[in-house]
Amino acid sequence: MKFFIDTADTDAIRRFAAMGLLDGVTTNPSLIAKTGRSREEVIVEVCDLVDGPVSAEVVAVERQAMVDEGLALAEIHPNVTVKVPLIPDGLAACREMTASNVKVNVTLCFSPVQALLAAKAGATFISPFIGRLDDLGQDGLELVADIREIYDNYGLETELLVASIRSTAHVRYAAKLGADVVTVPPKIMDQLIHHPLTDTGLKQFLADHEAQQ
Ligand code: E4P
Repeated sequence: MKFFIDTADTDAIRRFAAMGLLDGVTTNPSLIAKTGRSREEVIVEVCDLVDGPVSAEVVAVERQAMVDEGLALAEIHPNVTVKVPLIPDGLAACREMTASNVKVNVTLCFSPVQALLAAKAGATFISPFIGRLDDLGQDGLELVADIREIYDNYGLETELLVASIRSTAHVRYAAKLGADVVTVPPKIMDQLIHHPLTDTGLKQFLADHEAQQ
């Protein structure tokens, strides 16, 4: 399973890239807004930090405007993946950009049939937002299982990119369900790395070594 990081915070991206953990990056307009910087400036910097797909989201909502904005984003760097929302114009823009060999991440997916349609429109990635479904008392991981089954039934090559991750358990179950990619916020990346027994074990080893001197 590939690990993307779900942030526009370049310090965090640099930190996890140095550990060799990152296969790509996802951003969205909310994450970019938090940085106080322009989307283009952030995307250029991120593409220098990680050698893999970097999702940059369009803010247009009409097909031609989405395509124009998406193609301009794709010009920034060969690794840019254009993110479009799962609305009718987004699917049409996906089809058009895919035909021009631009990689597209169809985002804001909340149902298995939406995911099927995105694959038919040629999406490179489909992003089901599982945490937002859990927030409503629904089961985000069930959506992941359903998409996996449907894509496998028909040999669809769109990559299942699990997004809106809220916990380490989300990552574990996404892997068990056969997700192609998880995009993980920095806070959850840290939680994945750390274990209290690792910390106490290390402390004891260092204390024993010190006592022997
Ligand atoms: C994915 O590409 C999105 O940026 C992200 O996972 C959304 O997560 P949220 O529901 O925590 O905002």
